[in-house]
Amino acid sequence: MPLICFASPKGGVGKTTLAANIADALRRDGRRVLAMDFDPQNTLRLHFGVPLNDHAGFLTELPKRPDWRALTRQTASGVMLLPHGAIDIRGALGLSSALERDPELLTAPMRAILSDPGLLVVADTPPGPSHALNLLAPMASMVCTVLLADATSAALVPEIDTGRFLGSGTMAALFAGRLRVVLNQVDPGARLSRAAAETVARHLGPRLLGAVCRDENVAEALACQRLILDLAPQSRAAEDLREIARGIQAALPAAPEPFQAGWGAR
Ligand SMILES: Nc1ncnc2c1ncn2[C@@H]1O[C@H](COP(=O)(O)OP(=O)(O)OP(=O)(O)O)[C@@H](O)[C@H]1O
Ligand SMILES: [Mg+2]
Repeated sequence: MPLICFASPKGGVGKTTLAANIADALRRDGRRVLAMDFDPQNTLRLHFGVPLNDHAGFLTELPKRPDWRALTRQTASGVMLLPHGAIDIRGALGLSSALERDPELLTAPMRAILSDPGLLVVADTPPGPSHALNLLAPMASMVCTVLLADATSAALVPEIDTGRFLGSGTMAALFAGRLRVVLNQVDPGARLSRAAAETVARHLGPRLLGAVCRDENVAEALACQRLILDLAPQSRAAEDLREIARGIQAALPAAPEPFQAGWGAR
């Protein structure tokens, strides 16, 4: 049932990479996990080995009110996957308008997906504000905000702090408590990276879920269309990912037994 959204006010910070690899880490911890891609870039699938020329997805079908079960893929990792689907710019704008007119196109299937108590849903969202994030945030147990250990990210901390990143006024106040932060691409050997990480950690306290180091294995895993815990399980990044998955698990309600109950059991 819990929904964890990976989001960020900033692009290119590692949302998709972390969504895919944390989903994998949670699966390895014994959870039943569904990874969903809400970003028209449609790249979450690549981490799970879906071929580049396979363009099918869930979000692109939303206006036809599809059966999400029929579109769900079982990946080799054991994580179930609903890719976004390939879409051009006109299509993406059209989908965005359709969601604005009729949010139920998305919220109805999400309610059905989240009604499965043993399922943990990990969502990747587009950079910055989006209809998808706006609709998902109220349903999410946790919004995992990804930042880099740099000056721009440090400057964005007040946005995270106040919840303004997810809305304003009461909306912001409501969701601020669900916001957690992961620092990505931290380089402990670089002065600025270390200083930025320390500043953010001091400011956020327990809202900082963890940090992932800059590690070549991360980019190489994507190039091989494999997950980091599969390609380089002993790497520093793998260790960081496992630690963050443990932090997420600790913050979420325990999975009900038995695991094999319900849809999508392996
Ligand atoms: N810890 C890391 N170490 C090294 N490279 C990383 C790390 N995390 C992410 N990367 C690389 O950074 C790039 C951007 O990552 P990713 O696509 O996940 O970011 P994103 O936030 O989802 O981007 P977008 O805003 O476009 O959706 C990728 O090439 C990825 O391999
Ligand atoms: Mg992305």
